[in-house]
This record gives sequence, C-alpha cells and structure tokens, in this order.
Amino acid sequence: MSLAASPERKCPIIALASTKGGVGKTTLAYVLATEVSRRLAASDGNHGTGRVTCIDADPNRTLAQVLRLTNDPRIVCVESDSDRLLSDLRQAGPESDLIVIDLEGTANQAMLYAAGKSDLVLVPAQPSRFDVVEAVKTVGVVRKAADLVGREIAHRVVLSRTPVLRQRVADHSRTQFVRADLPLLPVELVQRAAFQSMTYTGTPPWRQDGGEQAAANVASLTDAVLAIIGMAPGLPVPEGQGAEPAAQPALRVVRTVA
Ligand SMILES: Nc1ncnc2c1ncn2[C@@H]1O[C@H](COP(=O)(O)OP(=O)(O)O)[C@@H](O)[C@H]1O
Ligand SMILES: [Mg+2]
Repeated sequence: MSLAASPERKCPIIALASTKGGVGKTTLAYVLATEVSRRLAASDGNHGTGRVTCIDADPNRTLAQVLRLTNDPRIVCVESDSDRLLSDLRQAGPESDLIVIDLEGTANQAMLYAAGKSDLVLVPAQPSRFDVVEAVKTVGVVRKAADLVGREIAHRVVLSRTPVLRQRVADHSRTQFVRADLPLLPVELVQRAAFQSMTYTGTPPWRQDGGEQAAANVASLTDAVLAIIGMAPGLPVPEGQGAEPAAQPALRVVRTVA
C-alpha cells in the first residue's frame, strides 16, 4: 500500500510544538521521520516521492544534528526559521511524502506559522501538572492559528517519557490532560534508553540492538499519527535489525544558518 494516497495530494505536514523545552519534541520528530522513512524504504518504490522532509525551526538545530549522524537517504533536513518557514514549506511540499516541523520550545511566530500550515500539531508533554499548563498554552496558539487560517487544526497531546510500568501518578496525569480539554494521542512515548542513545549515535531504535520494544512503541505511535492525517499505515512493525541504510551521503541540508 502506498503512503501517499495520490500524486496530486497535498503533502501532509506535522508540527511538533510546545511552549516549553525538554518535553520530547525533537525526539518525537526524529522517531516519526525515521519510522516513515523505514516504511518508505520497505514499500518497494510503491510510494510518492519516497522522501520525508524535516524542517528544523529550532535555532539549537538539535534535529538537524542528529539527522546528520543518521545520514538517511530518504530524509532531507532543512534548517529554517520564522522568516523562511512558509517558503521552505512551499518548496518541500512537492518533493516530500511527509513534512515534519520541529519547533523551539516557546510560543513564537514560527509556531503560529507552522500550526497554520499543519494537518496535525503534536504537543509532547510529560506526565506532570507543569506540562498540563504548558500544553494548554500551546493548544491556545494552535487555536489562534486555526482562527487565522479559518479551519480546524487537528492537535493531540502526546505523553512522553512515561514510565514503562503504568503508575498511579501517570494515570492521574492522563485524567488531568483530559479534564483540561486536551485531546490525547492514545499511544505514548515511554521512557527508554534507546530513545536517549539515538541522540548520540543517530541510530533509530529499529536499528539498535535491544531496541525492539522502543521500535514497537514508535511503530504503534506512528500508526496512530498517520491514521489522524489519513495516511496509509504502510508496513508492519520492524522485523529486527534487517535493512541497512544506503551507503551514500544522503542528508542534504538545503540551507544552513551562518
Ligand atoms: N521517550 C524518551 N525516553 C528517554 N528519553 C527521552 C524520551 N523523550 C525525550 N527524552 C530525552 O529528554 C530530553 C529532552 O528531549 P527533547 O526531544 O530534546 O525535547 P524538546 O525537543 O522538547 O526540547 C533529551 O535528553 C531526550 O533524549
Ligand atoms: Mg527540541
């Protein structure tokens, strides 16, 4: 099954947004991009452009740095900012099956633009009261963007770094997000070493020894995300350490800020 429904279809855009740093935006952007890339690679040419574009609109460039290490031939990373975001999106659209925008942890113009252009805004949050408050603020920006562009913008809070073993505090926290009128993605990104080590090595969980559970978490999270934007789920969950990425250098940083 192809990831893109038809060649004429507008390229779906997902933004990772939060008014606070350290909640897991870049982690989520990275695992989504590398998982969709894995599915494109395995879909045997039966797809649109076969490319995922990551737009790194955070001046810290954490996503660009880890993608440089990963060197995935299907992932293009564009270093952007609020001035260039709209033109970068326009340019990336026809060349991509999916665009993932990673934002800085603050409510800024780039967040408003990104939300206004997105099919889905994901708001990572850790299970804590502080993060409920920040998620409410972030969704406030998404609602302003929706008002500005005159359409609904789908958004979901994604609980991140949740304990592997379900704990009472995490259950309580889920209730708090729901009470605050924040729609939750049904799948969470749990706290795992594989998600930390990938930031040093640029090796996505599905290519890590012992990364199977993290990879399965990413696969079901990606299914839940793709279902919201109406993309076909693509391929089944990773089968261990199979496919190797192509050898040639692949990450094309279209523009680098001096
Ligand atoms: N699910 C997770 N499991 C383990 N560590 C995580 C997880 N999500 C995020 N982290 C770690 O938390 C820190 C902040 O995550 P990051 O994605 O950089 O947040 P943000 O982009 O929102 O600032 C990083 O050190 C990252 O490795
Ligand atoms: Mg980040």
